[in-house]
Amino acid sequence: MKMQKVTKIGVLTSGGDSPGMNAAIRAVVRTGIYHGLEVHGIMRGYQGLIEDDIQLMESRSVANIIQRGGTILKTARCKEFFEYEGRKKGYENLKRRGVNGLVIIGGDGSFRGAVQFSKEFDIPCIGIAGTIDKDILGTDFTIGFDTAVNTAVEAIDKVRDTMDAHDRIFIIEVMGRDAGYIALHSGIATGAENILIPERKTDIDQIVESLLEKERRKKLVNLIVVAEGDDFGGADAVQKVLKEKLPMAEIRICILGHIQRGGSPSCIDRLIASRMGYHSVECLLEGRYNIFVGIQNNKMNYIPLENAVKNKGKISEEWMKIVKILAS
Ligand code: F6P
Repeated sequence: MKMQKVTKIGVLTSGGDSPGMNAAIRAVVRTGIYHGLEVHGIMRGYQGLIEDDIQLMESRSVANIIQRGGTILKTARCKEFFEYEGRKKGYENLKRRGVNGLVIIGGDGSFRGAVQFSKEFDIPCIGIAGTIDKDILGTDFTIGFDTAVNTAVEAIDKVRDTMDAHDRIFIIEVMGRDAGYIALHSGIATGAENILIPERKTDIDQIVESLLEKERRKKLVNLIVVAEGDDFGGADAVQKVLKEKLPMAEIRICILGHIQRGGSPSCIDRLIASRMGYHSVECLLEGRYNIFVGIQNNKMNYIPLENAVKNKGKISEEWMKIVKILAS
């Protein structure tokens, strides 16, 4: 990639939204303006890039958004950007405006698009890890994860009240198509007896056995947290089998769904979004191109966009042991 001085930058949010994206947009816009850059807001992710739905941002454009969920730039999953023709249209729109640097706030799918785009058109791209799933390798946090987990915990605590009152088994499904971090964190934090995640093969017989054993001990209240992407098939599938095997038990399900994606971002999400947003612009100015900005051990971590692979299979044994021991 040729070194060129970045003078005008674009910022977009792509893929599933996550609480804290607005705080990141605000940080990118204000850091850019602080350094004398022109900052262009690209609407609806790569879709807006292709359709030239782009507007100049001012400092005031991002006033009063740090506390708001969603994304003022809106977002989309854009199939057209997978095709060369789509990316070329996007490039032409940037070229016409003189935009020569891009900040992409999103997950690994969005980063993959950015890698391809920067290779083909020589536009430096910086990623900011924004997804509630926390499924990107190289960062301890992704924007939105902390808020999503806290939302799940609050909801599960409420379910637990009614579960306890009725001596029921509850299966709660949380988000996480490919990763079990929301299930694992919210499950441990709410004292779940079983946590089912995509990274581990679900042994339903072993779960039935543990529920029967608890029943013998008169422990009738049992909470199972399952990630939507668990190999067994989510809450419905688990309930079906448990009902067959435990006909006497009262079993209910609750699917938390998109409430986990909304709401005011937590303090942690606002902080990491502000830090990542600030550093993404610094990276563009320093010529540190085609990386994404993560945070590890409370320090900034710059990882090549190409390495932003799904963080699958990295759940530590220690965590699973804790789940098992504390669930007795
Ligand atoms: O990637 C974040 C995520 O919330 C996943 O956990 C979930 O599977 C997916 O997005 C849902 O996407 P959509 O809102 O497009 O249905």
